[in-house]
Amino acid sequence: MAVCWAGGAQTCASAGPARPAKPIFIRMKPIEPRDGQRVLILGAGGHGRVVLDILLQAGRHQIVGFLDNNEAIHRRRIDGIPVHGSIGDLSYLKQALDIDGVIIAIGDNGARRGLARQVEQADIRLINAIHPSAALAHNATVGRNVVIAAGVVLCAHCQIGDSVILNTGCIIDYQTMIGEGSHICPGVRIAGRVKVESGVFVGIGATVIPKVTLGCESIIGAGSVVIEDVPSLATVVGVPARTIKVPAPGEDMAAMLLPARV
Ligand SMILES: CC(C)(COP(=O)(O)OP(=O)(O)OC[C@H]1O[C@@H](n2cnc3c(N)ncnc32)[C@H](O)[C@@H]1OP(=O)(O)O)[C@@H](O)C(=O)NCCC(=O)NCCS
Repeated sequence: MAVCWAGGAQTCASAGPARPAKPIFIRMKPIEPRDGQRVLILGAGGHGRVVLDILLQAGRHQIVGFLDNNEAIHRRRIDGIPVHGSIGDLSYLKQALDIDGVIIAIGDNGARRGLARQVEQADIRLINAIHPSAALAHNATVGRNVVIAAGVVLCAHCQIGDSVILNTGCIIDYQTMIGEGSHICPGVRIAGRVKVESGVFVGIGATVIPKVTLGCESIIGAGSVVIEDVPSLATVVGVPARTIKVPAPGEDMAAMLLPARV
């Protein structure tokens, strides 16, 4: 338990001989994880540091370390937290470090989603990182391995799938669904009743009007305003958004059959 000084030695002339007053201690409860679960963050890049900060701010977990495939940072510390080894070491380190859960902090949508499935198959628990400043409607539903960054607003009846990133300050309006493994970048505004399918990337500052569908693994350019449905695997940019890349015939089905990039 942390102890801090709240005052120095004092004297009291009217109470007899001067003697030093007892120091006053205030016992302060240290910030301790409420749930006390020991977690690892998989991925120690920029997104990993953001996830670390969110977990520290939320104060629910004990962050035991990172795993990252970049051997140059093994046994070093990132923001004070050790990098214990590669992601492939997870099964061994889970036992050795007595880990309760992990979160995958990898920006690439396909890699994050594929790794999440492997982690679950290995019977390792996936946790969420939700910043305390995020405002979540009481009836919004959130899957596993989800990152919700500072200042996010998630309105009534939204459904957020597994391995989704809702990045800093994005707004998701009512009854909108965000599919597994999608990344909604900082400052994005998605209106009500939008359907974002799986693996979609919505670039920074984009806007999506109500009732639109963003197809599986589509890419929405930074700052775009989407006013109509976007096909699977298409890339759209601009205001209003225009298509700059379309999937080749049969490519959408091929993409679904490809193994996840891990
Ligand atoms: C949409 C995006 C992925 C396209 O990348 P790309 O496939 O490499 O496309 P290119 O850079 O070759 O650009 C193709 C055309 O689209 C235009 N374009 C690209 N992105 C655009 C955007 N966001 N808004 C408007 N026009 C855009 C280019 O000017 C170019 O136009 P031209 O053919 O008339 O010269 C990328 O530009 C983008 O916006 N990424 C978002 C990044 C982001 O938000 N990161 C946040 C991380 S948290």
